[in-house]
This record gives sequence, structure tokens and C-alpha cells, in this order.
Amino acid sequence: MRVVSGIQPTGKPHLGNYLGAIRNYVRLQDDAMRADGECLIFLADLHAISQPHDPAELAASTRELVATLVACGVDPKQAVLFNQAQVPAHAELQWLLNGTARMGWLNRMTQWKDKAGKNREGASIALFTYPVLQAADVLLYQATHVPVGDDQKQHLELARDIAQKFNTDFGAGNEVFTLPDPIVPPDAARIMSLRDGAAKMSKSDPSDMSRINLTDDADTIMQKVRKAKTDPAPLPSDAAGLEGRPEAANLVGVYAALAGTSIAQVLAEHGGQGFGAFKPALGELLVETLAPIVARFRDLREDRPALDAILADGSAKARQLAAPTLDAAYAALGLVRG
Ligand code: TYM
Repeated sequence: MRVVSGIQPTGKPHLGNYLGAIRNYVRLQDDAMRADGECLIFLADLHAISQPHDPAELAASTRELVATLVACGVDPKQAVLFNQAQVPAHAELQWLLNGTARMGWLNRMTQWKDKAGKNREGASIALFTYPVLQAADVLLYQATHVPVGDDQKQHLELARDIAQKFNTDFGAGNEVFTLPDPIVPPDAARIMSLRDGAAKMSKSDPSDMSRINLTDDADTIMQKVRKAKTDPAPLPSDAAGLEGRPEAANLVGVYAALAGTSIAQVLAEHGGQGFGAFKPALGELLVETLAPIVARFRDLREDRPALDAILADGSAKARQLAAPTLDAAYAALGLVRG
């Protein structure tokens, strides 16, 4: 069992990242330990330069994200926690895979279409080839399980297509790369914005009120939930009643995911309530879940040498784990390296 996943150190990590991905990093890190496998969690700092960015902010966000992940339960003694920039094999393998990935495949990526928008001519090459780097990230370690939110599923399918084509074209009967499986939590695949039930909660949303950051204090969380967009009707008593009510469905879904229960159960308890009663209950559950994370984050973030040491240590391990597959890929392509 090889668990591999990444998160970009841009903006502030939020509740969608936590419920969609980070919580599963922690669960799978424990599963991997029990199965004598490996769990690698990395900061996708190389991905972060695919869009305009401020170098000083990127460095600061990288360290803050290490502190957040550890505060959420990623344990650097159990998982290999590192950043791509310290493991050159990611960029090297991306180049090797660029020979296999097809323009047509990348052109179909919805994230590319969304992020480039109407200005494709002005988008960076890195934004276009972003999914090839993502494929390299997981194929490099023969990943079997990749915990991600729903929005990354298409990139994972592309990674499988690239792996399959490379194995067929260059494997000479061997599987150079393992085909990775996405692990998407059914209860929190796509957490939506608090301001718009049709948009996903995102680090890049200009409105901070649209998301709960993993570093928000209790007052901020309560205020954001209180101001979350809703409709005037009370909560229905069954899931069918959430049809066509995206904001209500999102808040109920968040409650269920946090409480570890089903939507039906939440509605059995809160159906008939107005949002005036439900929102404070949801806010309190959020505060209860996030308060220990925020407290640990505040302690950890000040110790920059300790955060850098975690990344240096994790990166050294990742370099070792990456070497055999990178060598195999060079050899399969007929590239002579002395
Ligand atoms: P990123 O940094 O945007 O998000 C990190 C993880 O959080 C999940 N996520 C969500 N889940 C549910 N609801 C939401 N609103 C929500 N927003 C984000 C994402 O699905 C992701 O799992 N391209 C990736 C980073 C990456 C990567 C990889 C992931 C680079 N290489 C290799 C997996 C494997 C990204 O930008 O995630």
C-alpha cells in the first residue's frame, strides 16, 4: 500500500481541503502503517508557480501549510512529509512523461479550461502541463491510493492514462508504473462555498466569507456560519427535500461529515428547524472540531527551524523512494546515463 497525495501551498487551507482530503491523509497514513506500506504527503510548491504568485508569500505559505498538516494529524514520523522543490525527481519525471501525454488529453482538463478561462494565449505553459506534473507526483512512488477531493479525479484518470500508455509503449512487458486509484470521501467529495452553493469552496475565492479557514478562530467561524447564504425554508425531514436547495444541502452535508453521521440522521434530528437554530449548532460543531487544530497550528507555526527540518527529513526519504522508478523510466525510454 502506497498512499500519495499533494496539496498546493497557495492561499489558506480550508474546510473543503480538510474534509475532502486532509482527513483522509490521516486515516490512510494509519492504514498504511498497519499494512507495512508507505504514506507520502507533499506540498505541491512546483504546481503553485503555474499561476502568478509572490515568491515571499509562497515560502511563508509553504511553512504554514506544514504546520497545518501536522496540526491536522499528519505525523512526520509515520508519513513522509515533504515539498516537491526538494525532490528534483518530480520535475524530471514530468519531462519524461511529456513525451507520452497528448495535447488532446490536456485540452480536455476542466481545471485547465476553468483556470485559463478566455485567456488561453496568456496562460503559462506550466498551467497547461500541470496535470503531467501531477501524474509524475504519484507515478514516481508507485502510488496505489491517492486521497483527493472530487475536483482532482479527472487529473488522476489522466495519470492512469499516461501510466497505461507508457507501460504499453515502453514497458517491454513490464509495468514501469502502477495505476493509482483515487480515494474520494463519499460524504465530503465537494464542499461548496458558503456564499454560493453552486461554487466549490476554494482558496482562490476573493471572499474570505466563502470559506472556513483551518486557522480561523471561534468567533470568525461562528460569524461565517451565521452569514452563510441560505434560503428561507426550514430544513426538510429527508434528503429528497434538499433537492434544488444547494446551500442547505451543503450545510447539512458539512454537519454530517463533521459528526461522522449520515445526512438522513442529521435531518431526522434537525428537520423542521429554521437556519436560526441549525446554524449555531453547525458553528459549534465546527469550532469543536477545529479548535484543537488551530491551537496546535499556532504552537507549531512559530518554530521555523522545526518546520524546515520536517521538510528536509521528508525530502531525503522521498528522494530515496523515488530513485528506482525514475531510473526505470529513463532506462525504458532508452536514455543513456553512464
Ligand atoms: P488543492 O491544493 O487545490 O487541494 C488539496 C486537496 O483538497 C481537495 N479539495 C476539496 N475537497 C472537497 N471540497 C472542496 N471544496 C475542496 N477543495 C479542495 C482537493 O481535491 C485536493 O485533494 N492539483 C492538486 C494538488 C496536487 C495533487 C498531486 C493531489 C498536486 N499533485 C498529486 C493529489 C496527487 C491541488 O491543486 O489540490
